[in-house]
Amino acid sequence: MLTGKTVVLGITGSIAAYKAAELASRLTQAGARVEVVMSESATRFVSPLTFRSLTDRPVVTSMWEASSEFSVEHVALAEAADIVVIAPATADIIARLAVGIADDMIGCTVLATKAPVILVPAMNVNMLHNPATQHNLAELKARGFTIVEPVCGRLASGRIGEGRLAETEKIIASIKQILSKGNDLAGKHIVVTAGGTQEPIDPVRHIGNRASGKMGYALAEAARDRGATVSLITAPTLLPKPAGIAVTPVRTTAEMKKAVARSVAQADALIMAAAVSDYQPRKATKAKIKKEHPSLNLELIRTPDILSQVKGNFLKIGFAAESENVIANARQKLVKKQLDLIVANDITDAGSGFGVDTNKVTIIDKQGNEEALPLLSKREVADRILDRVAKLI
Ligand code: CTP
Repeated sequence: MLTGKTVVLGITGSIAAYKAAELASRLTQAGARVEVVMSESATRFVSPLTFRSLTDRPVVTSMWEASSEFSVEHVALAEAADIVVIAPATADIIARLAVGIADDMIGCTVLATKAPVILVPAMNVNMLHNPATQHNLAELKARGFTIVEPVCGRLASGRIGEGRLAETEKIIASIKQILSKGNDLAGKHIVVTAGGTQEPIDPVRHIGNRASGKMGYALAEAARDRGATVSLITAPTLLPKPAGIAVTPVRTTAEMKKAVARSVAQADALIMAAAVSDYQPRKATKAKIKKEHPSLNLELIRTPDILSQVKGNFLKIGFAAESENVIANARQKLVKKQLDLIVANDITDAGSGFGVDTNKVTIIDKQGNEEALPLLSKREVADRILDRVAKLI
């Protein structure tokens, strides 16, 4: 899978730079053409000669040196890349990439490339947990960068903590995963809903639910990274707006229904990951309800069922978040809502609840086949769902 692929490997100034030698060597042995770009400080930790010997390619250390074919044109590497991997990525390069600084070859390449970018951070635990670094990482993630998370262990400072470069094995797995997806959803239009709808009671209060929107956002981002045109219809969430995705913010079920009807006109698939409120107050009062009554009755009426009512010739994928009889209930919904796939999860399961970054789901298709997935990150779950969608489209 790596044969003939051009991997641009950016190395920045961390003591973990020596581990990039193993990565460069393994990638080269697997058949990839590895173009190493080193920051000035990386060359203080490891010699460019090490990488030159391992990859049998010239190593770029400056935009201005004459020895490299790539320094002639500062975006040539960006264009040649099938994937760009920055390992180790220091807090400094992460900050610079987040604001788009391009005064060295790594910054230039990342800014100019259309290839996917993987960041493998390695740094001191406090630098990693600093809100500035966390903010920058979240920003880059929202822009479509893949972060191979640092692990816990002994750091260069002698302290034990999070911040060690991920294992080479893990980095290679991530590269392979991204390269294998390619653009299998290119030219497809996918509509994703996310978050929990809110039904107003009065100008201050609403009926809501605990959905964080993470599963829907992961689906939207994964579909974008596989080449799809994505429309994300989202109820309020705390998540940053993903780049390269048309986002329609909505609040109520009625608003979501309208936005879905508008967006699906040219869609190939609708994925309803939103937790849609089933009831709404019969009437939201214009004035704030005062606590003058000893008790209060709120009359609720049913909201429309968006998935059941939406019409058109596209794949319909629903979710079933259940707390009991998970599979049986999901199967019923699959039939009743005439879906192509339903993704069932048990919200009482550890790791699959609300707000967490992981999920454990079972995908059930129209023919009734079940695929039970292990506990995975929401992004991995998203990719597994999209594997099925790509086959069905
Ligand atoms: N859904 C929808 N419109 C609604 C309610 C749900 O489109 N008014 C969608 C959800 O986005 C999800 C699927 O239908 O993809 C199943 O939602 P869920 O809440 O599990 O099922 P309900 O039909 O609401 O049934 P119940 O709450 O009784 O389990």
